[in-house]
Amino acid sequence: MIIYDEQNLLFTLHTRNTTYQMKVDHYRVLLHTYYGPRMECGDLSGLIRYGDRSFSPNPNEAQYDRTYSLDVMPQEYSTCGVGDFRLPSVELELPNGSHSADLRYKGCELQKGKYTLPELPAFYGTEEEAETLILYLEDAAAQIMIELYFGVFEASDLITRSVRIINYGTETVRLCRCASLCLDFLRADMDLITFDGHHLMERCLDRSPLRSGIQSVGSIRGASSHQHNPFVILCDQHANEDTGLCYGAMLLYSGNFGAAAECSQYDSTRLVMGIHPYHFCWTLPPGESFTAPEAALVCSPNGFSQMSHQFHNAIRRNLLRDPYSYMRKPVLINNWEATYFDFTADKLLAIAKEASSLGIELFVMDDGWFGDRNDDNRGLGDWQVNETKLPGGLKSLVSKISDLNMTFGIWIEPEMVNEDSDLYRLHPDWVLHIPGRAPARGRGQLVLDFSRKDIRDHIYRQLQVVFSSAPISYIKWDMNRSLTDVWSAGLPAQRQGEVYHRYVLGVYDLLERLHTDYPHILIEGCCGGGGRFDGGMLYYTPQIWCSDDSDAIDRLRIQYGTSFCYPPCTMGAHVSAVPNEQNGRITPLKTRGIVAMSGAFGYEMDLNKCTVKEKEEIRQQIEDYKTYYELIRHGDYYRLSSPFENDLFTAWEHVSADKREALISFVASASRPASPFLKLYLKGLDPSLQYQIDHSEKTCSGSLLMQAGYPLPVVKGDYQAFQIYLKAK
Ligand code: GLA
Repeated sequence: MIIYDEQNLLFTLHTRNTTYQMKVDHYRVLLHTYYGPRMECGDLSGLIRYGDRSFSPNPNEAQYDRTYSLDVMPQEYSTCGVGDFRLPSVELELPNGSHSADLRYKGCELQKGKYTLPELPAFYGTEEEAETLILYLEDAAAQIMIELYFGVFEASDLITRSVRIINYGTETVRLCRCASLCLDFLRADMDLITFDGHHLMERCLDRSPLRSGIQSVGSIRGASSHQHNPFVILCDQHANEDTGLCYGAMLLYSGNFGAAAECSQYDSTRLVMGIHPYHFCWTLPPGESFTAPEAALVCSPNGFSQMSHQFHNAIRRNLLRDPYSYMRKPVLINNWEATYFDFTADKLLAIAKEASSLGIELFVMDDGWFGDRNDDNRGLGDWQVNETKLPGGLKSLVSKISDLNMTFGIWIEPEMVNEDSDLYRLHPDWVLHIPGRAPARGRGQLVLDFSRKDIRDHIYRQLQVVFSSAPISYIKWDMNRSLTDVWSAGLPAQRQGEVYHRYVLGVYDLLERLHTDYPHILIEGCCGGGGRFDGGMLYYTPQIWCSDDSDAIDRLRIQYGTSFCYPPCTMGAHVSAVPNEQNGRITPLKTRGIVAMSGAFGYEMDLNKCTVKEKEEIRQQIEDYKTYYELIRHGDYYRLSSPFENDLFTAWEHVSADKREALISFVASASRPASPFLKLYLKGLDPSLQYQIDHSEKTCSGSLLMQAGYPLPVVKGDYQAFQIYLKAK
């Protein structure tokens, strides 16, 4: 609910459990007065204190009032160059070369339903689900209007933000910085949590208390990156899964981003998130505008679980555009770890045949099916089926796959090219490169200039021929290197600061075309695993291959960290062979199944190499997954222990919305002698209900399971796992 108090120029946004407030003050500066647990409140600007602070300048219109300074007040969208020395949200370069921004309130607009953003991913919402507030701020000297957008999703406690900058003047202005989110707090006693890592180990939780100054994460790799995720948390220092105030902030963006928290000299904190200012400079000629990517906020008064539930609900209901929203997703088999580049149609069919006999429903052909792609130094860019490997093309292969009662999926990496390809030989100038410099290779490949529509069109035409040659129901869109040598022949020198962002817009454009032209196709995102796992991609690719590390034990950490913002259904997770291809670890098949089925489930191994007993186990796993699908897909996800803290086990739980069903998953760490008797304290159950345990006669009350705990059986051997299914009587 948005309450606009016209007389006091007060804007109060209520969601079910939170309140967010802004106020226009007597100099028409837009102040941020509160974000936190829901309050039936009046004007909260009284929380802001004024005093003479030396070296904090006073705006000209404050005359000689030394107690009024932009440098100390909480602001809704911070400026620069005119007296606030903390993190700026916006920075303009005016024709006279000055760098500044100074904003005053001009007006507002309220709309039912959720605003949309041109060319950018955004949460969507009907008039029943969401409301929109637009606040207009003006920099009169620069002749710039800034529109701040707020989307309020009451039921899921989600508040979205975006910004549009409009040049209404007569001269060209350059935009050097344009954050999506600025959030000021009148406190500094908080922890910052970020999700960091590297290729093969993404989104590991990292928590530390805020200290004076700026602490930040970000990416200048052209993708949101394996190293840092565009999702951060600020929270009470004592916050845990169940208690404490915490704020989650996600950026729906898949390119260079920055997320920075600054603790000021007077113990306030500012969080700023948006496109990374590195090599960003957008030229705004008269009459033109720039739209910043969307950011989304959740505040939970009750710890991380509630925050995650709200993000998961909002992402599932109002962000994903998943052809399988109302249907069970097929269980898939992917041939990558089974064959790498070394396959023929017969080899693929042999894997598919075995898979189908075990209940697998979708066959995904990974890298290696096109051009001369027999290793990863060649072929990218030539999106024509390699008929030596696949005689009769896709048509013949897919018809044989269909005969096995399976649907078909295919891998692509449209943004890239190898020098050893027909495409590169014909158009060497289509890659990102700086004139006079030979571009750096990554995985032996170069990056196509996706900021250029002509290049995207060419790639898309090739792909369309492939996609229309056979029935395809799934695409895995990969991206296997970071961007370097970022320069585009399509733009003049003074506009090269637009290339990084135009590249991302280009990726979104092609993904949107795919989504529009093939609405029934499920697109899985991938970037060497989880190097572009963000809310922006999820709008187009409702699931993302979580990591190239498919080892079940490493995945515990990766999936745990990922779950703070993103729901399990978005995490591509496969059972692969042992010893694991990435780390050589041997884990039981059961453990691999339990970990993978807590995500978008599939297999990635040559099932022909399995024993009869293993095949029987796989058949049962698939049955179990199908049985628990609704619970895993739509239920509330609880982290019962942290793999970063607990060295004995990792456990998690999916609970249905009506609390009548739950699935608990448990994975023990490496075996140790005389290990302690363990108990699991369950969460999210109805204390008054009796739950039947694993279809047996045995029952326990919800209160007992949550307060006294469930005694775990003693397991022997490394990395043993099991599930417990609860159903209310
Ligand atoms: C990336 C992906 C893998 C696989 C290979 C193919 O590394 O993450 O899953 O598709 O590319 O080259």
